Amino acid sequence: MSERLAIDGGTPVRTQPFPSRAQGFGEEDMRYVTEVLQSGHLSRVGGAKTKAVEEQFAAMLGVKHALAVTSGTAAIHTAVGMINPNPGDEIITTPLTDMGTVIGILYQNALPIFADVVPGGYHLDPESVRRNITDRTKAIIVVHLWGMAANMDAFLAIGEEHGIPIIEDCAQAYFTEYRGRHVGTMGRVGCFSLQQSKHLTAGDGGLVVTSDDELAVRGRLFADKGWDRTGADRGHLFLGMNYRISELQSAVALAQLGKLKERVARRQELGDKLTAMISDLPGVRPASPSAESGNTYWFYPLAVEEKTLGISRERFMAALNAEGVPCWGWLGKPLYLFEALLEQRTFGTSHHPFDSPAASRKIVYRPGLCPNAEQTLCEAMALTVHEFYSEDDVADMGAAIRKVAASARKG
Ligand SMILES: Cc1ncc(COP(=O)(O)O)c(C=O)c1O
Repeated sequence: MSERLAIDGGTPVRTQPFPSRAQGFGEEDMRYVTEVLQSGHLSRVGGAKTKAVEEQFAAMLGVKHALAVTSGTAAIHTAVGMINPNPGDEIITTPLTDMGTVIGILYQNALPIFADVVPGGYHLDPESVRRNITDRTKAIIVVHLWGMAANMDAFLAIGEEHGIPIIEDCAQAYFTEYRGRHVGTMGRVGCFSLQQSKHLTAGDGGLVVTSDDELAVRGRLFADKGWDRTGADRGHLFLGMNYRISELQSAVALAQLGKLKERVARRQELGDKLTAMISDLPGVRPASPSAESGNTYWFYPLAVEEKTLGISRERFMAALNAEGVPCWGWLGKPLYLFEALLEQRTFGTSHHPFDSPAASRKIVYRPGLCPNAEQTLCEAMALTVHEFYSEDDVADMGAAIRKVAASARKG
């Protein structure tokens, strides 16, 4: 007989709260922040902390250039600014991502084109990307979701074939390896986020990486109002943003960066343990690392198949939460169904750039646009596994998932 679920009045698997990531900040963070405050120099221009973050991050990834900016959204906007689309050009990406992936596309007057993901998966389907390429396609933004790498071989081949640069959105995938290479280092530009939930955080912040010298110069200018600081006279060479991160954020980022590799490795170990505990359950699809890609577990994605399990994802999530294991539905809907995109609410009363004469076709976002992505969101949920969890914490998570799944099958 299966155990009575906590949601039905049974005893929860877990009553203690899970560990917080707050313990990840300590003496070194305080020392670096204090150093910045005592120096009285809080701007990155002429500061040492941002420079150190950029140098260390580039060295850790093995790329020539890293640029620290104010957010992951700013990092992607900067990457788009580096590629420099013409108004009305198109940039293909996935609808399973944060809004920050497409904001910069629109602010550069380009059009986000959503390709579908692979059936039952989280990443862009190369064939769907191919079908969406037109003579206006200026870039492809590949998102490495949840800590797992997308099929980079296929995207690099498509990029090469069509002469289209690949931007990698690695906001959720620090040090994920794809066939032995770090994500972010394979495309023309890689982008990272330092927002609170990310593997590396300073509350907010972002990093742009590239090994292309010309793009690196353009990115640095783009994120600094197009300001060329190399000459004696002030010059604004082209339209750019102010995405300068402050030395205070960089002080925290620098302290955190030193611990990042170790933390990612621990997270990987614990996430893989949880996967091993639940991978035999019918109707439950854990986040398996594949032969090509590791998983660094931003959050832990779990998908449940209602048909096999006999209960809905909503019931599964409610039951798991009642067992004391927090889980939630993450994005809720594909990006194109959020009002800003669905109704193309952009600038003033216009729908610019969607209604711009520079656009070569009418872009319509609608339910059913990317059926695989919509199906994935009906099945997937997010759980937390991070570097401060213990083996026992993960064992409780595994036990709770097994209990809910067993009870679902018994009906
Ligand atoms: C995949 C992805 N891309 C972009 C972003 C945007 O990053 P930020 O929130 O730092 O602007 C996020 C952050 O949530 C993300 O998860």
